[in-house]
Amino acid sequence: MQQVIILSLKKYLEWTAYVIVPFVLAVLSSVVVERELYTFYGTLAEIGLIFILLLKPISQISGWISLRQLVGLRRPMGVTVFWLALFHGAMLIYERNLLWSDMMGLDNYLFYGVVALLGMIILGITSNNFSLRTLKKNWKRVQYLAYPVLFLTLLHSAMAEGEMIKFYVVSTLFVALKVWAHQKTRKR
Ligand code: HEM
Repeated sequence: MQQVIILSLKKYLEWTAYVIVPFVLAVLSSVVVERELYTFYGTLAEIGLIFILLLKPISQISGWISLRQLVGLRRPMGVTVFWLALFHGAMLIYERNLLWSDMMGLDNYLFYGVVALLGMIILGITSNNFSLRTLKKNWKRVQYLAYPVLFLTLLHSAMAEGEMIKFYVVSTLFVALKVWAHQKTRKR
């Protein structure tokens, strides 16, 4: 019974992620032309990305069944994060009239946002059954891109906010949880 609920929840979430989310973001972004709104998309994308990537290690460490079931819903969650990041980047480029040259340079926070978004685009366009069938074993390898995307996003937002401590704390916590989860699953 619980399995049936999870499957129908997955279908509903996929429909929302692939159709409703981009539609709502497109309408909202063209009606409300506010920098704060576009920045907020970025904040939501970052929180979503951290949540998705922490789900698996936390479910492995805690062994909670309900968390393990949420792990199976990461794909629609990831697609939602992709749209939020895309609208955040694209609308801020448009609203601030940013040129390619404004976003380059290792000391420029925008550079890390651009690279993170490129990774996110690759993850977004390969998050479907067609790519899974075509890429076979390589599909999993492509999905590992999510980890550098997380660190680049943290670096981008920490530099934008002028608060590097966030980057160090979240990155260290993430690596520690991954190592802990790895050791725990190896022992089983
Ligand atoms: C082309 C790519 C990107 C561009 C041009 C871009 C642009 C910007 C800009 C201009 C800001 C500063 C906003 C302000 O304070 O006025 C910012 C902050 C931020 N960006 Fe991006 N970004 C990009 C990619 C990303 C991606 C991929 C993510 C997340 C997945 C992201 C998440 C954030 C976050 C969390 C902040 C801090 C928000 C805050 O100050 O509260 N960005 N970005």
